[in-house]
Amino acid sequence: MSEPAREQWASRAGFVLATLGCAVGLGNIWRFAYVAGENGGAAFLVAYVACVVAIGLPAVLAEFALGGRARLDVVGAFSTGRAPRARRRAGAGAVLTAFLILAYYSVVAGWAYKYFAGYATGELRGLPRGEAAARFAAFLREPFEPTAWHFAFMASATAVVALGVARGIERASRILMPLLGAIVLLLAGYALSLPGAARGLAFLFAPDWSALARPGLYLAALGQAFFSLGVGMGVLITYASYVREGERLPRAAGMIAAGDTLFAVAAGIAIFPAVFAFGLDPAQGPALAFVTLPQVFALMPGGGWFATAFFFLLSAAALTSAVSLLEVVAAFGMRRLGLARRTAALLAGLAAFAAGVPAALGSGVWRDVALLGRGILEVMDYVTGSLLLPLGGIAVVVFVGWFVPRAAAVEASGLRSGALVRLWLLAVRYLAPAAIAVMLVALAGA
Ligand code: PHE
Repeated sequence: MSEPAREQWASRAGFVLATLGCAVGLGNIWRFAYVAGENGGAAFLVAYVACVVAIGLPAVLAEFALGGRARLDVVGAFSTGRAPRARRRAGAGAVLTAFLILAYYSVVAGWAYKYFAGYATGELRGLPRGEAAARFAAFLREPFEPTAWHFAFMASATAVVALGVARGIERASRILMPLLGAIVLLLAGYALSLPGAARGLAFLFAPDWSALARPGLYLAALGQAFFSLGVGMGVLITYASYVREGERLPRAAGMIAAGDTLFAVAAGIAIFPAVFAFGLDPAQGPALAFVTLPQVFALMPGGGWFATAFFFLLSAAALTSAVSLLEVVAAFGMRRLGLARRTAALLAGLAAFAAGVPAALGSGVWRDVALLGRGILEVMDYVTGSLLLPLGGIAVVVFVGWFVPRAAAVEASGLRSGALVRLWLLAVRYLAPAAIAVMLVALAGA
């Protein structure tokens, strides 16, 4: 049953930009570049593009088809037609995954807010190079500040979602996404002009073709493709449920896959030449953005400005992604509990804030708390990213490929050409489920 007055995107570009906003996030800015560098550079890039085209893109279109057809939140979309409990559970699992990712994602994004504020006000500008690591550790160790920034970030995401699909999410994406594109290109251009840029490019792109023989490369590429495209958590289903009649979903899916990949490559070009130009180590994960890069900024001419722009980029990219995750939870609350949008957004935001507090404290006062030998934030990242996300992905492709009647699925996808329809069905029914299953088995064995 669909609501009489379901909200809609005000324009086609709005839908594409909002979905691109979901895709472009923390994953593109530090995770992609690091994973690429570790997995054979250009060889990884080739495998990554193959995963995006052969598995990610069909899965994006499957989510779009599901959402566009059902015009419901993710749980509703999964249970249309005959509704065995298993399918409703898959939908509920997607809501839970989105909620958990949002909780810790907001903590890291809060660090980005802090560093943006620190560079914008000048507080962090004079930071001597040797003190970057200690300063970050001191910030994390403090009980109050990281939690406060986590709160500030979640509050801004909540405000955007509370304003609604067109007035909140679409408007924020229309302003932020073109701006982010411009900033990342400017930063990449400046980074290329630094002496030593070639070594950074070599780290990112130098082809080590022997890496193609390592199975780990493909797992990394597939996992990164899913996380980065935002597949498997119901975000794309939810966003597609707001499209207007006649939206060209295949075209939108292609633009998002291409835009997301180009953005990741541009961000890598902005980051690595600078890291190498100043002789630093390309470190892993959050440390790269919050410890290594501040050292680069301290040495770079105009580093304060570069840093301000960089952390704005990181914060805003994270914001549009967090908004999409919050919308999944809020949309579910609106339909299921009949809540008004504002109430649903507020409750979901508060709950996700609370769920993120242990992760915020886990890098500081609670840093001795370890589950399975990892910190709280790492565990949340691992469980959601490596386990729940592939499970969500497989649920979507299996549901669309095998449970939705074939003609209805094809019609909902918007694909017209027979050849493309066959390729899409091949990917959604066989290729994607098999690839994800292999990935899950390999992880279980790891
Ligand atoms: N795609 C986002 C990123 O690259 C993260 C994200 C995952 C956002 C899932 C929404 C849904 O950072």
